[in-house]
Amino acid sequence: MYLGLDFGTSSVKGVIIDDRQKIVATASSPLKVSRPHYGWSEQNPEHWWKAANAVVKSLRKQKPKAVAQVKGIGMSGQQHGATLLDYSGKVLRPCMLWNDARSFEECADILRDCPEAKAITGNIPLAGFTAPKLLWVKKHEPKIFEQVAKVLLPKDYIRYRMTGTYGSDMSDSAGTYWLDVAKRDWSDVMLKATSMRRDQMPDLFEGTDATGRITDKLAREWGMPLKPVVAGGGGDNASAAVGIGAVLDGDAVLSLGTSGVMFVTNAKFSPNTARAVHAFCHAVPNTWHQMGVILSATDSIEWLARLLKTPAPKLTAALGKKLEGPSEVLLMPYFSGERTPVGDSQIRAAFIGMGQESDAKVMTHAVLDGVAFAFRESLDALRGGGATVNRLTAVGGGTHSEIWLKIIATVLGIPLDLPAAGDVGGAFGGARMGLMAATGASFKTVCTKPKIARTIMPEKKAQAAYEAAYHRYTKIYSAVRNIK
Ligand code: XUL
Repeated sequence: MYLGLDFGTSSVKGVIIDDRQKIVATASSPLKVSRPHYGWSEQNPEHWWKAANAVVKSLRKQKPKAVAQVKGIGMSGQQHGATLLDYSGKVLRPCMLWNDARSFEECADILRDCPEAKAITGNIPLAGFTAPKLLWVKKHEPKIFEQVAKVLLPKDYIRYRMTGTYGSDMSDSAGTYWLDVAKRDWSDVMLKATSMRRDQMPDLFEGTDATGRITDKLAREWGMPLKPVVAGGGGDNASAAVGIGAVLDGDAVLSLGTSGVMFVTNAKFSPNTARAVHAFCHAVPNTWHQMGVILSATDSIEWLARLLKTPAPKLTAALGKKLEGPSEVLLMPYFSGERTPVGDSQIRAAFIGMGQESDAKVMTHAVLDGVAFAFRESLDALRGGGATVNRLTAVGGGTHSEIWLKIIATVLGIPLDLPAAGDVGGAFGGARMGLMAATGASFKTVCTKPKIARTIMPEKKAQAAYEAAYHRYTKIYSAVRNIK
């Protein structure tokens, strides 16, 4: 048996799988985010630990025998958070999370002081990343900064509590902005640029490596007498990709959730910083991945649903199932700023071409198109970094809308595969990494793909009109960015 734990922002999820990767039990425990000031987003690491314990307790209640046979544990985690520990392993302040926006000035400081930053890390610095957060602490909380002995990502703090060791994996570490992503090693240049040292970083592992075993005390508390090994694990997107079997060059996933992610596996490091692509290590050895991140995907239609006081599924259902062509109204859906391709946290959304006739249906259509265009910009940016993408596996809440999938497939010009129901999330990917760490099995045999329930093809008749609309869409950002 193998346990996967996914440390998300709103909950910790757990899944137990058997040797044949069949799901035996699942559980989850909620988490809250604290926002003490505008733009801040924090969590108390102790709450992750309590939630992890609650999850294991629930799994044990359901399947005590399965829990007693756990041989490997793998974790998936929300990325980028800065958990600061002193020399005794005590947490020095609440963890600043991936969506904490306070350190935007420090991003500019890094680029000014370290012109090679983009080449080494493969990314533009974002306020969400870990390194600019430490510069903020240095500036605003110098007493805490002086005491920092280790900086750990959220799931790696739990590894410390489970095993007593300081370790991290390549995929999550790539999101710190301290990693030389091509070399899969900490970068002394990046550490120096942010006044940090190598000894403040955890040891690096591949996601599928064994990093240590849980302590005797925890083995007793969790009812796991085999003292399972803990795998390196991965950042949440890389772990979800392991869960869905996207581990070979060109394997690609489109996640249509609150935010949207286009994830592509690469055989080599493939950055495109000019178009704000995230280029990280994958959680499996000698493999990388790129990500285009859209901050408001289903969040865009939820915005319209709130405004029109009509649930989103009702709005999208009103468009019917047949796709004739694009909406006459264009939307640049940057309701919360945008990562790919502009890397602009200050920009906001814009509708173009509204008329008296622009009713709820037209506006809904514009929102669905706008998110599809945003994904197309990500696709073009990933291809600009060298990716080959011929089809995408689509996951996430937004995939319940047939018409939205049809629009996205048409705008991207490639088929979307919808997996049959089942757990393919980060926790499942974590459990797979636990299995690989415990057995030494290769990711090429373990990370199989789920069954595809159906495939959505591009609507040929609508493609030319959508291509023309996309061309108009790509001109919006440069035209409006300086209107403030
Ligand atoms: C990735 C990112 C998010 C967080 C939280 O760059 O910011 O995926 O890991 O889910």
